[in-house]
Amino acid sequence: MHAYFTEEGSVEAVNARMGQNVSPRLATVMASLVKHLHAFAKEVELTQAEWDYGIDFLTRTGQICSGERQEFILLSDTLGLSMLVDAINNRRPTGATENTVFGPFHVEDAPIREHGATISLDGKGESCLFEGRVTDLDGQPIEGATVDVWSDNADGFYDVQQPGIQPKWNNRGRFVTGPDGRYSFVGIKPVSYPIPDDGPVGQMLGHLGRHPYRPAHMHYLVTAPGFQKIVTHTFVGEDPYLESDTVFGVKQTLVAPFEHISGATEWRSPFDFVMVPDATEDHRLADSIEHAAS
Ligand code: BEZ
Ligand code: FE
Repeated sequence: MHAYFTEEGSVEAVNARMGQNVSPRLATVMASLVKHLHAFAKEVELTQAEWDYGIDFLTRTGQICSGERQEFILLSDTLGLSMLVDAINNRRPTGATENTVFGPFHVEDAPIREHGATISLDGKGESCLFEGRVTDLDGQPIEGATVDVWSDNADGFYDVQQPGIQPKWNNRGRFVTGPDGRYSFVGIKPVSYPIPDDGPVGQMLGHLGRHPYRPAHMHYLVTAPGFQKIVTHTFVGEDPYLESDTVFGVKQTLVAPFEHISGATEWRSPFDFVMVPDATEDHRLADSIEHAAS
C-alpha cells in the first residue's frame, strides 16, 4: 500500500509518519487525537466553510488571551473537558471531598489570616460564617492544613476583575488548621455570576442557546503535607443555576448548608473537608522503607 493520503485511509496516513524515537506517551496521545479528530470530521461531513469558521474561532480565542484572560480555559470549562480531566485525575474513595474546576480567579499567596477573621473587605453582601474541620478518611483532624479561600463579591465580581474598585485581597484569605483540624472565617453568602462572556466563548454559548452563569459558590484549595490537594467549591443549595452551571462544576456532595442565624453575622455554612493520602507520598515512603531494608 502506498502512503498517499486518502479519505478512507486518512488516520493511517497521518499516524504512519510518527518517528521511531517519539516518547511513547506522546505517540499514544497524538495518534488517538488524530483518530478522533478525523472521526469527528467524517461523522459530521465537515464543510470547508465550517472548518474555516473553526480556525477563525480558535484564532480569536487565542487573540483575546492575556495575562488576565485565559479564553482557552473557558473553552475547556464550557465544553465540560476541564471537569472530565479533573474527574479522570481525581478518583477518590467514598467519603473523601470531591474536586471541581479550579477556575481562572485564584491568586497565589493570599494573606494568612487568624481563625474567624473577615475576608470581605468591601462591606457589601450578607455576612456568612464558614467553618468546619479538615480530617483524614478516618475522621482524624489534620493539623497544619492550609485552607485557601476565594469568592466573588456581592456584585458578582472577583477583586482581580475590578482592580481599583475592590480592595486588594477582597474575599480572599488563607487559614491554617491547628491540632483540632478546624478552620473558620467570615465571608459573604456568595452570589451567582456570569463567566466572562464578551469573547468567542460567550458568542459560542449564545449560538448554542446556553447562559453563561455559575451558581453561587465559595472556592477552596485545601493542602496538607502527605495528602492530595483538594480543589473544590461549596455551593448554595437553592441557587437557580445549580443544575445548569455553565462549566458543569456542581456535585451533589458539594452543596453545603447555609443556615440563617441571628446576630451581626447573618448566615452560617458548616462544611468538613476529608483528605486522601497522597500516592506519591506513599511511594516515597515505600521507597525509603525498601532502601532502609536493603
Ligand atoms: C470560577 O468559578 O471562578 C470560574 C470557573 C470556570 C470558569 C470561569 C470562572
Ligand atoms: Fe468562581
